[in-house]
Amino acid sequence: MSKQQPHEFMSPVWRDGIFKGRVAFVTGGAGDICSAQTRALVYLGADACIIGRNVEKTEAAAIDIAKVRKGARVIGIGNVDVRNFETLKKAADRCVAELGSIDFVIAGAAGNFVSPIAGLSPNAFKAVIDIDTLGTFNTMKATIDHLVESAAAHISPNDDNSPPGGRFLAISATFHYTGLPLQAHVSAAKAGVDAIVGSVALEYGPRGVMANVIAPGPIEGTEGMERLASTDAIKEERESANALQLRPGIRGGSPGIPSGRWGTVRDIADATVFLFSAAADNVNGHVLVVDGGSWRRQGGSMGVGLDPGMQYPSFLLSGEVSNKVKDGRKTTSSKL
Ligand code: COA
Repeated sequence: MSKQQPHEFMSPVWRDGIFKGRVAFVTGGAGDICSAQTRALVYLGADACIIGRNVEKTEAAAIDIAKVRKGARVIGIGNVDVRNFETLKKAADRCVAELGSIDFVIAGAAGNFVSPIAGLSPNAFKAVIDIDTLGTFNTMKATIDHLVESAAAHISPNDDNSPPGGRFLAISATFHYTGLPLQAHVSAAKAGVDAIVGSVALEYGPRGVMANVIAPGPIEGTEGMERLASTDAIKEERESANALQLRPGIRGGSPGIPSGRWGTVRDIADATVFLFSAAADNVNGHVLVVDGGSWRRQGGSMGVGLDPGMQYPSFLLSGEVSNKVKDGRKTTSSKL
């Protein structure tokens, strides 16, 4: 179910209209996290183009997002794979032709599944590198000239407090900070994403484009976590949070996470609003981790792809991973 009430996709601290007259271009914009980010931007005044592979899903999400603000223009452009630069470029050109500019970009399209290296074919590894790393590069490459134009047209800080422009944001992860079993492909891909953004910050900062990364931790209710976290492990985690009376009443309670809870899409949308707002005018090349401190205990919490009781390194030595995660393939196996 889509999160349409403002408190579901952003906190009440932001001022109406702070993105008025600006246009966001969002890959993966029909997904759980990126649609919340887009909703918050649109609610606060922006128009948007959301990009995805599935035509119906992308167009339906655009219609849904547009409902958060009267007069909002949100275009869903389906049949675009971030691995294909040409279709992405056409989508960016269409966005500018129909909405007038691209001022903010979110490179959010991502692919993931649980697999040990032993079960990872070269093509499986490449699929994730292509979607996440190459996809982020392609998204940046297809939009960067528009962002440079936007930054020049909307210099900030300024005296009239008009919204800034020229902001690039990539969605990454924290797995590569330590390495993580069953996530070699995503760890490598997201390390590449962070590296690309560092270079964009250095090369385009002098032209006014601010480029940053958000690294979410576990976010409740998302396709990503359906693919990574065993439903049994989540259940046990919630039960132990309750038994410990850890932050009573909080949703998504988690003894494994220093903040005591999983993240929400609203956490990520709030971080996005900050980075695109005038409050972040001089934030460039930054990786904003929004995970409740989770990565500092990586592996200390429930772990990716593990059922309760599966311990490192025994599960690797025996070749067991959970079959209580969404596999994404037609056939599934718990033994690799
Ligand atoms: N474990 C191991 N290998 C897997 C796998 C799994 N669970 N799922 C897919 N693969 C392999 C495939 O077998 C294939 O390798 P092969 O050709 O050697 O057999 C390779 O990955 C590509 O799979 P394919 O389905 O052809 O790729 P795709 O481009 O259609 O899909 C994925 C890309 C695999 C990343 C797919 O999961 C996807 O589309 N994900 C998008 C949604 C998503 O992941 N959201 C969460 C974001 S956090």
